[in-house]
Amino acid sequence: MQNLDALVAEAKAAFAAVTDPDALEQVKARFLGKSGQITQHLKELSALALEEKKRAGAAINSAKDAIEAALAGRREAIRLAALEARLAEEALDVTLPGRREDKGGLHPITRVLERIEALFASIGFTVADGPEIEEDFYNFTALNTPEDHPARSMHDTFYLLDEAGQVAKNVLLRTHTSPIQARYMRAHVERYKGRETMPEIRIIAPGRVYRVDSDATHSPMFHQVEGLWIGEDVSFAHLKGVIADFLRGFFESDDLKVRFRPSFFPFTEPSAEIDMAFMGGALEGRWLEVAGCGMVHPNVLQSAGIDPEKYQGFAFGFGPDRLAMLRYGINDLRLFYEGDQRFLRQFA
Ligand code: FA5
Ligand code: MG
Repeated sequence: MQNLDALVAEAKAAFAAVTDPDALEQVKARFLGKSGQITQHLKELSALALEEKKRAGAAINSAKDAIEAALAGRREAIRLAALEARLAEEALDVTLPGRREDKGGLHPITRVLERIEALFASIGFTVADGPEIEEDFYNFTALNTPEDHPARSMHDTFYLLDEAGQVAKNVLLRTHTSPIQARYMRAHVERYKGRETMPEIRIIAPGRVYRVDSDATHSPMFHQVEGLWIGEDVSFAHLKGVIADFLRGFFESDDLKVRFRPSFFPFTEPSAEIDMAFMGGALEGRWLEVAGCGMVHPNVLQSAGIDPEKYQGFAFGFGPDRLAMLRYGINDLRLFYEGDQRFLRQFA
């Protein structure tokens, strides 16, 4: 029993040496646990005579109290130290400069597409879409452009590779939004199968298209907005009216000229390119081609199951990137796709 003071001192030193709560509990077991040193001493009491037992028992108990008090003190000290460390870590340095928050904004092309959708919605067009990875059939064949047709060379097409690394001839990146016409007409016919008459088709279809093409007014990925209006007596006069109204609405100006230049597309007859020019301002007098259009070819209607003797209508394909260039006065189309913050921030 002579070394109880030494034991208390040893326990204090051992508690002081640890700094985390788990380690402290381990150390506690060494002194106060089931086979700890204090417990050992208590077990040895039974061998002593009564008087001696009383005296030794009291001494052991006071050593035990001292160790327990030291343990409680160390526990509290460790808890406070942890708290202080956390407070220090989470302290706010009010002298630091603030972090700037970057605000997002819609891409100018997205804004243009939304604007086009809203203008056409106001005259009863709904929005349709289709896949960007398209079948040769919808991109060409269903649009009166069978294989080996010379008009296929009008588009420099990106084809996809199959698993063996060979060009998969029937899968491609759509070169225009016109395949959506072919898909929509088929779905429409299917929907109204067996009815005497079918309701009009009046849709626009905005989306990304791809061609092997790159310069200031051509990008390998660009956008088109397809339009399609099929009914019993939809004429070229309607087409001209819709387009002229749309362009004036889009540019919020009557000060622009629109011309329909005779052209060729396999899926329309007659066909035209739509050019426009402003009558004033910085871009005065410069004609830019903004769309292709025409009356939907009877072969295209027929192939979709629509009777060309009963229904007719027009289609057009706008280049909204070009419209964005004109609206915002941008001279190089590629600026839209470079992701340069200095450029994009001007539209946010
Ligand atoms: C077509 O793609 C036809 N599908 C349009 C059409 C639809 C005609 C329905 C008749 C009926 P074109 O290749 O001309 O046509 O393209 C249409 C418009 O897309 C062009 O007037 C131009 O504004 C835009 N465009 C074409 N190529 C590019 C390009 N590489 N980069 C940016 N815009 C382009
Ligand atoms: Mg063209």
